[in-house]
Amino acid sequence: MIRFFSRPAPLVLALAFCTFIPVLTALVQVFQIPSGTYPEDSARLAVAPMSWFAHVLAGAAFGITGPVQFVRALRHRFGALHRVSGRIFVLSGAILGLSGLSLLAQVTSQRTPLVDIARGLFGLALLIALTLAMAAIRDRDFLRHRAWAIRAYAIGMGLGAVALVFFPIYIITGQPPIGLASDILFVASWALTIVFAEVVIRHSSYSPPRVPT
Ligand code: HEM
Repeated sequence: MIRFFSRPAPLVLALAFCTFIPVLTALVQVFQIPSGTYPEDSARLAVAPMSWFAHVLAGAAFGITGPVQFVRALRHRFGALHRVSGRIFVLSGAILGLSGLSLLAQVTSQRTPLVDIARGLFGLALLIALTLAMAAIRDRDFLRHRAWAIRAYAIGMGLGAVALVFFPIYIITGQPPIGLASDILFVASWALTIVFAEVVIRHSSYSPPRVPT
């Protein structure tokens, strides 16, 4: 199964499917925020317009460059593309984490402290994982670099799993799920993405690049 998803097309399609809801929402808000046409239930984020805009722009860039980084054939054949897209991935990941923490500090939360604490921890964990991925590549330790890059992607995009769980509930009930049970589900879906990343790191094969990156 993991071998099947390590092929370029299935991998990109699987990652795109798992993350399209937050990436699409972020992309739409990149245009809605400057034009003031954002939905009413997002209006409370307008108390921190810079953080909000930076967050959705970085979220879209992080979500789009992530799958490109993990395709082995692209890494091996187009080393320059991997390096350019990798820099965008790291920069956008760092902005995503910092702006997420800044939103957390400025916006009045609509959730229980469980989600706020988890968001804070995931934001910090994203920054740490990106730093360790960069430190590993400076040491030319490709295996460690790959492991931390996969962890960073999973931490940042854990929201994709949350959306896949919450979106059908929203479609069926017409209401966004709220309350402690929904917040436990929110944090569990995000955390499971990180557990899944650990399984991928341990069980997928890896061959180092022929051209050093
Ligand atoms: C560790 C990663 C992340 C952290 C810590 C984080 C944190 C936050 C926080 C605190 C908010 C404000 C929530 C509220 O009070 O309603 C928020 C909103 C938002 N985030 Fe993130 N986020 C992360 C990842 C992402 C990613 C990867 C995307 C998109 C690809 C994304 C897209 C959004 C969007 C679109 C909103 C606005 C939601 C709305 O309109 O209500 N976030 N995020």
